[in-house]
Amino acid sequence: MKTLILGSGGREHAIGKKILKDFSTMEIYFYPGNGGTSQIGKNIENIHSTSELCSFAKKNAIDITIVGSETFLWDGIVDVFQSDGLKIIGPHHLAARLEGDRIFSKSFMKKYGVRTPKYKVFSSYQKAMDFLDKTTYSVAIKTIGLAEGKGVLLTHNKTEAEKALNSILIEKEFGKSGNQVIIEELLQGKESSILSIFNGKDIIPFLSAKDYKKIGEEETGKNTGGMGSIAPNPYMTSDIWIDFQENILKPTLEGLFLEKLIFFGFIYFGLMINSNKVYLLEYNTRMGDPETQTLLPLMNSNFIHIIQSTLLQKNISISWKKLCSCCVVLSSKGYPDKFQYGKVIEGLNSLKEPFYIAGAKKEKEKWITSKGRVLNVVGLGFSMDEARKNAYNKVKKVHFENLYFRNDIGL
Ligand code: GLY
Repeated sequence: MKTLILGSGGREHAIGKKILKDFSTMEIYFYPGNGGTSQIGKNIENIHSTSELCSFAKKNAIDITIVGSETFLWDGIVDVFQSDGLKIIGPHHLAARLEGDRIFSKSFMKKYGVRTPKYKVFSSYQKAMDFLDKTTYSVAIKTIGLAEGKGVLLTHNKTEAEKALNSILIEKEFGKSGNQVIIEELLQGKESSILSIFNGKDIIPFLSAKDYKKIGEEETGKNTGGMGSIAPNPYMTSDIWIDFQENILKPTLEGLFLEKLIFFGFIYFGLMINSNKVYLLEYNTRMGDPETQTLLPLMNSNFIHIIQSTLLQKNISISWKKLCSCCVVLSSKGYPDKFQYGKVIEGLNSLKEPFYIAGAKKEKEKWITSKGRVLNVVGLGFSMDEARKNAYNKVKKVHFENLYFRNDIGL
């Protein structure tokens, strides 16, 4: 069997390693892939468009394509592959708006009663400021499009709000994504990530996870692509799970049916738990990074069987190890701003699984850093404390110049 995985991060390396663990003879192709994925499969080169990717998949008799990164979804890759009879996991273009178009997504939540923070949409700087002058400056100001993950600005006073609105609506720092803004109530609390798979009939949630988004310890400093993750999320108590099922998952499923947005793929619920109630901050229509790296080592079920069942609209039940998982992201100091790369990584060849390459390549038998986020090191244990200790013991075995990581993942 042959699989094609789309994306270039630690998430795609983790998906590839999990598939090989369950199905050692699987032939895996990655596009574009990274230095880690080239060790377990083939990275495809010289592809310049979705239609070229589709021709590649047909020519090479790819059985299943898994979309890792959202960038492909927004280009409508699922529609193109499906119209050519290829099997692919991910939402078609219209459903991908749940992640790619924040106005569509918030309207969907409102229409179907999915609990979400209050919001208003503005295209005029002055009208947005007038609204904030009369309410509060403590808000989340969001671009309507994805803006490479950078389009969410949290403000707490008038100066910050003016700066945020100016950068989006006047200076157009986020391009067309900033033609309008969503001003959303800023909820405090604990974040939770629920990844799930949609088989066109049911949404089957994975174990809960938690992402650590900020560069600094205790969630300080700039937003990043994720500096660590844990699973299960200790804040997802049984009461919160019931609240999630009732107020987020059920109305989402109803909305997908009524809007005829049926697809076969992942839905990731980005949640905020506030005063014992769970709110949906956003949908993503793919697996999370680095949540995937934390979750897949806990999955007993065969991942490819889950995907095959999804495509056949069969019932799915996922079995998980009764363990905790802690993933620490090793990065190049300076990230998410400027950083140096090309540094030799020591200790990687003898590192025990699970670990994943996010941004490194092998040159003349040496591993070299190539991106801001370099490695994902995972520890497992019977408690979060044990998982955390195991992860940080592994981290100690890896060295490179300008190495930076957070010490508080899983604390
Ligand atoms: N962990 C956040 C994301 O994947 O978008």
